[in-house]
Amino acid sequence: MKKSPEIARTLKALRKKLGKCRQADQSIGFVPTMGALHDGHISLVELARERADVSVASIFVNPTQFAPGEDLDTYPRTEEADLERLAAAGCDIVYIPTVEEMYPDGSVTHVRVEGLSDLLDGVYRPHFFYGVATVVARLFVHVQPDVAVFGQKDYQQLQIIKRMVRDLGFPIEIVGGRTWRDADGLAQSSRNAYLSPTERCRVNAISSALHRAACRIEAGMAVVAALDEARTRIKAAGFDKLDYVSAVDPDTLGDLPGAAVDPGYEGRLLAAAWMGKTRLIDNMAFRRGE
Ligand code: PAF
Repeated sequence: MKKSPEIARTLKALRKKLGKCRQADQSIGFVPTMGALHDGHISLVELARERADVSVASIFVNPTQFAPGEDLDTYPRTEEADLERLAAAGCDIVYIPTVEEMYPDGSVTHVRVEGLSDLLDGVYRPHFFYGVATVVARLFVHVQPDVAVFGQKDYQQLQIIKRMVRDLGFPIEIVGGRTWRDADGLAQSSRNAYLSPTERCRVNAISSALHRAACRIEAGMAVVAALDEARTRIKAAGFDKLDYVSAVDPDTLGDLPGAAVDPGYEGRLLAAAWMGKTRLIDNMAFRRGE
């Protein structure tokens, strides 16, 4: 039986706990989350534990990354179950701040990573990455980790955070953990809980379409043709709206030209689509053989 993590609900309590770790010269590994933890989150905690002496996870449903009308109020909140999972994973400290702790009254300082935030998901959720960068920067100041771990499932978010860390000079190593998938390929996400059983049966079409497109591009098919085929397959699976399927440069996230990529080229496929009221995102790497 693993011991329960220590819980800090205020910045003051967190600093007290982390102060002791720093005095003992222990490194800190951090996993920011919005709770409703699944196996993917737990694998990130395991990565943080491998890379640092003390592991910290945060649970904070960040209001600034939700636009009016989005699912802030209904976002799953499962603190008790999350704490049990974090205990089983051996997490040392869980930071569960209030909105007032993260955004003190009258707070007007925000972080915006230009360019990368305006592409792909940024086109459909213009407020989103501004909210993510702002809260992650604040969490980094609160926790002051040596290493922070984010899932590759949110690939654009990961690239934006890497860029923010570089631009602002945070002395933090950013690590990307692999995407966890259900047996049928669906990427694990807290929002999958919104899917009805019928919807759940259909949504793996995103990952299978991306996988097929990645194989086609790796085999030398023109990018434009592989993307067209992926769009057709996703629409045929009964998605209500397809926001995008794109093939991009893995660092700049800029769209690739439509032709076949050069041998040895490594890129990324990303997609977002709506099934009923659930928006799903997924992404996959590809590399054309030499
Ligand atoms: O990926 C998430 O769960 C959130 O966007 C994050 C990084 C915890 C910021 O609220």
